Amino acid sequence: MKVSVSVLSSYDRLISTINKINQSKADFLHVDVMDGKFVEDTKFPIEIVKDVMSISKKPLDVHLMVDDQETVKEYADLKPDMVTFHVEIIDGFELIDYVKSLGIKVGLAINPETDVEALTPYLDYIDLVLFMSVNPGRGGQPFKGEVIDKVKTLKEYAPKDLIISIDGGVNDKTISLCKYAGCDMVVAGSYITKADDINEAINNLKS
Ligand code: DX5
Ligand code: ZN
Repeated sequence: MKVSVSVLSSYDRLISTINKINQSKADFLHVDVMDGKFVEDTKFPIEIVKDVMSISKKPLDVHLMVDDQETVKEYADLKPDMVTFHVEIIDGFELIDYVKSLGIKVGLAINPETDVEALTPYLDYIDLVLFMSVNPGRGGQPFKGEVIDKVKTLKEYAPKDLIISIDGGVNDKTISLCKYAGCDMVVAGSYITKADDINEAINNLKS
């Protein structure tokens, strides 16, 4: 199980958190960009993401909760390791092609209420699907167990090399559901960044 650590819940102590993640066994650092339109909050303007990139020793996984396609391109132009935007804003293949043309991995995120079939046309062209197991917009929310059925449905027909990830409310209790559903990767924020020992918390999800 790969673990991507969201630093959203430690926005006010980013540097110390990133330094801890650098020393840990985390596979990715997950940055939650919010535009105040797709979700209410506004977080991680581009200058802050540049700062994160300069400090992080982990591959960066940028989750764009934004409704404007130009904003996706601006963040993709920073060339993090992976850019994930929402299937709810997509309009054809242009944005996927743009991100891929930069040589970076592309993911599509899907909200809890969105039908899993919305992903179908894109599955052969993307690297990752990010199932939201909370309504996007803030950390620390409870895991929506009903999302597990959607993950299992997609697993039945998804290409074998498509990475299946899940984001929101992942902790040492809900991880078993993620494993049962066949997730390859989890995004976890508050469970890890608020733990006394982040290595132990990461191990609890990986093992
Ligand atoms: C929610 C974000 C998540 C969030 C996860 O909108 O996309 O990445 O930070 O935080 P936890 O693990 O606390 O639910
Ligand atoms: Zn996220």
